[in-house]
Amino acid sequence: MDLPHKPTKTQITAVRISAVILLVLVSLASVDGKKPCPFSSYLEFSAISCRKHTAVLTDFGGVGDGVTSNTNAFREAIEHLSTLAIDGGSQLIVPPGKWLTGSFNLTSHFTLFVHKDAQILASQDESEWPLVEVLPSYGRGRDAPGGRFSSLIFGTNLTDVVITGNNGTIDGQGSYWWDKFHKNEFNVTRPYMIEIMYSDQIQISNLTLVNSPSWFVHPIYSRNVIIQGLTILAPIDSPNTDGIDPDSCINTRIEDCFIVSGDDCIAVKSGWDQYGIQFGMPTEDLLIRRLTCISPDSAGIALGSEMSGGIRNVRIENVTAINTQSAVRIKTAIGRGGYVKDIFVRQMFLSTMKYVFWMTGNYKSHPDEKFDPKALPEIKNINYRDVVAENVTYSARLDGISGDPFTDICISNVKIGLTAKPKKLQWNCTNVEGYSSDVVPLPCAPLAKEVVSSDGCPFPEDQLPIEDVKLMTCITKNHAT
Ligand SMILES: *[C@@H]1O[C@H](CO)[C@@H](O)[C@H](O)[C@H]1NC(C)=O
Ligand SMILES: *[C@@H]1O[C@H](CO)[C@@H](O)[C@H](O)[C@H]1NC(C)=O
Ligand SMILES: *[C@@H]1O[C@H](CO)[C@@H](O)[C@H](O)[C@H]1NC(C)=O
Ligand SMILES: *[C@@H]1O[C@H](CO)[C@@H](O)[C@H](O)[C@H]1NC(C)=O
Ligand SMILES: *[C@@H]1O[C@H](CO)[C@@H](O)[C@H](O)[C@H]1NC(C)=O
Ligand SMILES: *[C@@H]1O[C@H](CO)[C@@H](O)[C@H](O)[C@H]1NC(C)=O
Ligand SMILES: *[C@@H]1O[C@H](CO)[C@@H](O)[C@H](O)[C@H]1NC(C)=O
Ligand SMILES: *[C@@H]1O[C@H](CO)[C@@H](O)[C@H](O)[C@H]1NC(C)=O
Repeated sequence: MDLPHKPTKTQITAVRISAVILLVLVSLASVDGKKPCPFSSYLEFSAISCRKHTAVLTDFGGVGDGVTSNTNAFREAIEHLSTLAIDGGSQLIVPPGKWLTGSFNLTSHFTLFVHKDAQILASQDESEWPLVEVLPSYGRGRDAPGGRFSSLIFGTNLTDVVITGNNGTIDGQGSYWWDKFHKNEFNVTRPYMIEIMYSDQIQISNLTLVNSPSWFVHPIYSRNVIIQGLTILAPIDSPNTDGIDPDSCINTRIEDCFIVSGDDCIAVKSGWDQYGIQFGMPTEDLLIRRLTCISPDSAGIALGSEMSGGIRNVRIENVTAINTQSAVRIKTAIGRGGYVKDIFVRQMFLSTMKYVFWMTGNYKSHPDEKFDPKALPEIKNINYRDVVAENVTYSARLDGISGDPFTDICISNVKIGLTAKPKKLQWNCTNVEGYSSDVVPLPCAPLAKEVVSSDGCPFPEDQLPIEDVKLMTCITKNHAT
């Protein structure tokens, strides 16, 4: 089939030549000591790789009127650009305008760039959303036992994918899905906004994401993932609008994100009960830093509740949470198996919290009745230090599992200011063991042992491999005009 408006070789070459001219001009400009990119007709952005070929959505018949469907324009553009993966890769520019679309799939060595004045609007027409298989580590859809809608932006088995912009917007138009979900009218699971599976080298950055039908950003079974500079906004009562859910991912860095949502701002996962145990892919080597979160009924960062493949070596630092139910919460249950261990948290600034510390060992939610009641999770070596909190209702609620205590919990240098009417039992601890020092109000007896090091609870000195990944500066034509 002949695709309409395919960019010709000459157009592609023209863009390439103008990029070369621009580079020359930029280097001349920097000799002058001027700003590196003085031309408003070009944009600079940072990415794990820059691309040789560029196309604009309108080259493939895109119409940015907010009404016309661009599903075919996105699908045809990316199908065409996928042929350039082996020739230096490609980028698709979403220019200023409102671009209504259903689900589409990404390709390798590819950048989707959303201009700051562009809005991608998710279609509310279900026929624009193909159904895909359930996730093997979950055994069923998260909302419903059957299948699930493909995510708005979906990718599987890819290498080197960038979704970025200079703060362009992706709007999931979630109210349609939330209403139908509340009325219990779905027998399949709602779509996520962005899901990337079985992939390596992923970057999602500098975007504003609003009103996802369900979870916003879901990297799963992937490695080498960088997520930065996202503003994520959903009503605080919207159902399951988790911000970022790294799930069975190795080597991930999440930084400089601002999230307001109806569920956990970040939820770290690795599969559900017997399906997650069998799949056996942990989330490990994860760094989360400079997060700001508002979520009155959920956690700033949840570890679980689906953690059956294990969660290990997570470093969390510099978290601000305001009007949020709890800070870094562990959620698990009998039947999950797996582990949450070697977790390090420092520098949290918290205001208006129900619980500063919360661990839940009886988070009852199972994929089906076939879970193994002997599959007990191992929760061990959980470290929190340097926390300032104000207007707190309960300092801690730590519920381990009877016969399966949560061990080596360490808490140091924590000042908790309480609400005007605080609860009497500030530290409610069952089936937990650990250490503390310099904590106000005074922790429960099971945590009363002094921390061994006078420096407080540990935080690793070494860097994770994902911290060494440097971004390149890419230059592209500014399609603002
Ligand atoms: C995101 O935007 C910030 C500020 O404009 C900039 O410093 C940063 O390099 C950008 N990051 C990426 C990955 O483009
Ligand atoms: C996207 O890829 C998935 C998995 O390969 C497939 O099931 C789905 O139909 C694809 N969607 C589109 C729009 O091509
Ligand atoms: C993607 O990779 C997974 C795991 O390696 C494999 O099971 C699956 O068949 C692959 N899917 C496609 C569409 O290639
Ligand atoms: C991006 O846009 C959002 C929403 O308008 C805004 O709140 C945020 O400050 C912007 N981020 C940057 C880095 O400009
Ligand atoms: C799911 O619902 C649709 C319509 O709401 C119906 O056509 C379909 O048969 C249902 N599928 C199952 C498996 O119940
Ligand atoms: C913590 O993050 C904020 C932005 O979220 C930044 O302004 C501040 O400098 C950071 N503090 C440290 C100690 O890194
Ligand atoms: C303190 O927390 C309570 C809820 O416990 C809230 O209603 C109140 O607005 C908060 N006060 C301040 C000053 O943030
Ligand atoms: C303390 O926690 C236990 C469960 O571990 C709960 O049953 C009890 O109600 C809690 N007590 C208070 C006063 O909150």
